[in-house]
Amino acid sequence: MKLAKLVLACTLSLGIANAQDVMQESMSIMEKGMTQIQKGFLNNNIELIKEGSLLVKKGNSLFNDKKVITNYLPENKKHLVNVAAAASERIALDINVLELNLDNKAYLNSADAYSDMLNACSRCHSIVRSW
Ligand code: HEC
Repeated sequence: MKLAKLVLACTLSLGIANAQDVMQESMSIMEKGMTQIQKGFLNNNIELIKEGSLLVKKGNSLFNDKKVITNYLPENKKHLVNVAAAASERIALDINVLELNLDNKAYLNSADAYSDMLNACSRCHSIVRSW
């Protein structure tokens, strides 16, 4: 009985932790992806850039829904959800541009898309953090 209660309590708290952590999961995947992309450009390692872009795509897809984003905006910033969501859309578009240019060996344009993506991260963070 005691054990059953413990198991139940663990399951419940895990569920809550998971629900809270959509943002943390998304952000840590994107951070890893962006780091790989940067490393790939710096070291001329195309495979690394491709792997990183897959990660950013995955992370961004976890945090592009307006309902989810609103949950993580401070009370006095919730009205800016459209601006925040636009940053996520911009990341999705930039990833496409990055990959297309990579396929065409247009590496400078691809690196530009990476920079724009980084700006889009800051765009949303500036709202959340009142930068
Ligand atoms: C639509 C909004 C939005 C976008 C776009 C966004 N983030 Fe975030 N990010 C957040 C929120 C909300 C937090 C949590 C609050 C804070 O850290 O100030 C956060 C926090 C983080 C953190 C700290 C995580 C933690 O556990 O505290 C990292 C790292 C991060 N983001 C990376 C990124 C990267 C990399 C990108 C771009 C590829 C990005 N974010 C784009 C909203 C966003």
